[in-house]
Amino acid sequence: MAGIIHIIGVTAGPACYEILVGSDFFSEALRRSVIPSAERIALIVSSRIYELHRRIISQELEDREGRSFLLLMEDREENKSYAYAERFLERFIAEKLNRRSIVIGVGGGVVGDFAGFCSGIYMRGIPIVHVPTTLLAMVDSSVGGKAAVNLSVGKNIVGLFHQPALVISDVRFLRSLPDVEVRNGLTECFKHGLLGDFGTLELLESNDLQSIKRESVLCDLVAMSARFKSGIVEKDEKETGLRAALNFGHTIGHAIESSAGYRGVAHGQAVATGIKIKVEISRRMGLLTAAEAGRAEGIIRRYGLLPEKLDMDIEKVIRHMEYDKKNFGGTVNFVMLNGLGNPRLNQGISPDLLKEVMVELC
Ligand SMILES: NC(=O)c1ccc[n+]([C@@H]2O[C@H](COP(=O)([O-])OP(=O)(O)OC[C@H]3O[C@@H](n4cnc5c(N)ncnc54)[C@H](O)[C@@H]3O)[C@@H](O)[C@H]2O)c1
Repeated sequence: MAGIIHIIGVTAGPACYEILVGSDFFSEALRRSVIPSAERIALIVSSRIYELHRRIISQELEDREGRSFLLLMEDREENKSYAYAERFLERFIAEKLNRRSIVIGVGGGVVGDFAGFCSGIYMRGIPIVHVPTTLLAMVDSSVGGKAAVNLSVGKNIVGLFHQPALVISDVRFLRSLPDVEVRNGLTECFKHGLLGDFGTLELLESNDLQSIKRESVLCDLVAMSARFKSGIVEKDEKETGLRAALNFGHTIGHAIESSAGYRGVAHGQAVATGIKIKVEISRRMGLLTAAEAGRAEGIIRRYGLLPEKLDMDIEKVIRHMEYDKKNFGGTVNFVMLNGLGNPRLNQGISPDLLKEVMVELC
């Protein structure tokens, strides 16, 4: 299987761009959009991806006319920082990147957020092309234009909306992706499914962890999920309303991760735990039927999305939720499901019910 399989057009604010999904289609992709006319190209590449997929990067992305230069990024979350960005911005100057130049970010969400941030602030913004290499980055972080770095007080605190000029999602990269990272991405697809992306929900139900990794299935999954998220972004680019639905499961998930010091629980596992808690609360509040909740739980089990064991300090998790920047007014407000595909924003939940479900499930 080779070539572009799906093209998703996105219009977000004044930006208009394409998300290309397929396998082995770089030369075709590089002829599109802003790339042919760019005077200089900064390639920000995950050093892990460079090690694993050097042939793709050096043969297909580094052009031979001397327009591009390579900047390797150690893609640890700690490096998604303001200080690390300054080093890259200084290299941009040294390499004479100008306003007719572009940045191409190749890697997972860490590289994408970082490259988006650097390109978004350099000379008040130059175009960014995302080449996501994790499933999560293909279905989530490369879609929607959020770019940010972390501060010591919290993640993604300093950032901007900087829509890409092009997204190139080549599922060839996913061949080397470890299962824990595949599950992180599947959790975001699953979340989209519950929020109304029913094609993805059915695809998840008719496959398992092995069969979903077939390239043709991955292409469909990435395209459906990216199309669903971009549809929401088109309606609410700056997250003033509807886009907040994409935080479903994340308020609890982030609190689980931060209260555990970001150790011992993968992002996807924490979010899947948050989703499971929300589904159960929605069921008890009469918002979801037992059959709907059962469908969600079936997918969680089928793909093993939860951690094997979760030693969660529930009081601590609740305290961390109260600090979450997405909450306001001192109360913890959640996205709930009033039926599959029908998110309800800013829903207050009784602290007793929340605690009861957390104790029972975790
Ligand atoms: N901008 C947004 O809207 C948005 C949305 C969700 C998440 N994010 C951000 O995305 C980041 C998480 O992204 P992620 O889940 O992609 O993690 P990541 O970028 O940390 O990558 C996970 C690991 O996989 C490795 N890797 C990447 N591609 C690989 C491949 N093809 N084969 C083998 N290994 C590979 C990386 O080196 C890394 O060790 C977080 O910083 C989060 O804040 C942003």
